[in-house]
Amino acid sequence: MTGQRKFFIKSYGCQMNAYDSHRMADMLAPAGFSETATAAEAEVVILNTCHIREKAAEKVYSELGRIRKLKEAAEREGRGMLVAVAGCVAQAEGREIIRRAPIVDLVFGPQSYHRLPELIARAAMEDGIVETEFPIEDKFDHLAAPSREAVRARGVSAFVTVQEGCDKFCTFCVVPYTRGAEISRPASKIVAEVEHLAAAGVREVTLIGQNVNAYHGEGADGRAWSLGRLLRRIALVPGIARLRYTTSHPRDVDEDLIAAHGELASLMPYLHLPVQSGSDRILAAMNRRHSRAEYLDIIDRLRRARADLAFSSDFIVGFPGETEADFKQTMTLIDQVAFAGAFSFKYSPRPGTPGAGLHDQVAEDVKAERLARLQDRIDDHQKRFNAGCLGLTFGVLFEKPGRHPGQLVGRSPYLQPVNVMAPAKHVGEVASVTISDIGANSLFGNLSSAKGPCYASIGT
Ligand code: 5AD
Ligand code: SF4
Repeated sequence: MTGQRKFFIKSYGCQMNAYDSHRMADMLAPAGFSETATAAEAEVVILNTCHIREKAAEKVYSELGRIRKLKEAAEREGRGMLVAVAGCVAQAEGREIIRRAPIVDLVFGPQSYHRLPELIARAAMEDGIVETEFPIEDKFDHLAAPSREAVRARGVSAFVTVQEGCDKFCTFCVVPYTRGAEISRPASKIVAEVEHLAAAGVREVTLIGQNVNAYHGEGADGRAWSLGRLLRRIALVPGIARLRYTTSHPRDVDEDLIAAHGELASLMPYLHLPVQSGSDRILAAMNRRHSRAEYLDIIDRLRRARADLAFSSDFIVGFPGETEADFKQTMTLIDQVAFAGAFSFKYSPRPGTPGAGLHDQVAEDVKAERLARLQDRIDDHQKRFNAGCLGLTFGVLFEKPGRHPGQLVGRSPYLQPVNVMAPAKHVGEVASVTISDIGANSLFGNLSSAKGPCYASIGT
């Protein structure tokens, strides 16, 4: 449906926010709104924000400065513009946002997305609405399903939220405060959502949650299902060729999940498993609840279940008290695991978290220097991993036309973009591709005639 009223959503931060932005769009479509990519022409502007690091939160305020000018211009033209702030900054800062940026009409947290049309209607009549409660009702029951057109427009790979929130309380992290306690969706609802997506052409599903492998939703048999069990069930949905899940906590990697990696061909051999630090002292101070040796043992067991598994991770440098010796432990862990990729950050003290109150904060220049060294090391491993793909044949899920005529771009099992000369009809298919060249940010390959499973063993 294309409505006359237009909305614009800008999403910051994690995949959970990208998914939530889609859900907000799905709620607004039946209310007569259509999405625009230009904030200036929108009647409703929504910023779906991230609070994980200070920089992420500050970006929202600079964006609100730009939007103020758009809102003033719209008002000069006699149009209204409703400005809404959603997501974790909304949850954490609430009314403070309206104090700092009075152009904001509506502030609402992640648990209120299903009420968006109603909140917009109220905001047209009342000033400064703030909705940051954690209601008891299950918002997933009230969220609208995307239309077929919306699913198609979003492509062949989709996210599906299976759990939200986190009970781990790592001492650096705001998530347990902004997203609340861990809750898992019932398996039947997740399966129904995946079936709906598959029927509209989705081929790859990434199950997402802040602590996805803590999943313990109610299964078809009335018992709590683990993530492994859920993955086995979703693997049976016709049309779904590939499965992934993110983000996991090492403590919640159980035998069943490890076994699923060995059993399910559609479960992609690329796992994001944040470790944050390689030093036991820092891991303890971060309240990560696992040691370096335990993390390495999990990696070993996963590799034994599936030899071609590759890993990515998250790292924080400069957590309070981190010495050069601690940091070196992180560098040796990187070498030991040979990560194929990673996200890395300077520690950012978040108000209200235990880490922010620690005395031995690390100086900014030390953090910056460690981050640069760590990123160089990760780059080396990533390059080596990519170079190791030369000559291999593996499945590529074609997503869209490439930059050059006759070319398609897809994703390897390891999420690397792969450019291949292939007919457009292959979009949405997993084809067997032999890698012929390695670029700076992507791979190049040729359609291969090889039959059978298209995974080649990646040795690290
Ligand atoms: N400072 C820096 N990085 C952080 N992360 C979470 N909180 C902080 C913080 N306060 C990083 C962690 C996490 C990722 C999503 O963001 O590495 O895994
Ligand atoms: Fe934050 Fe730790 Fe929970 Fe991840 S596991 S969301 S880092 S508290």
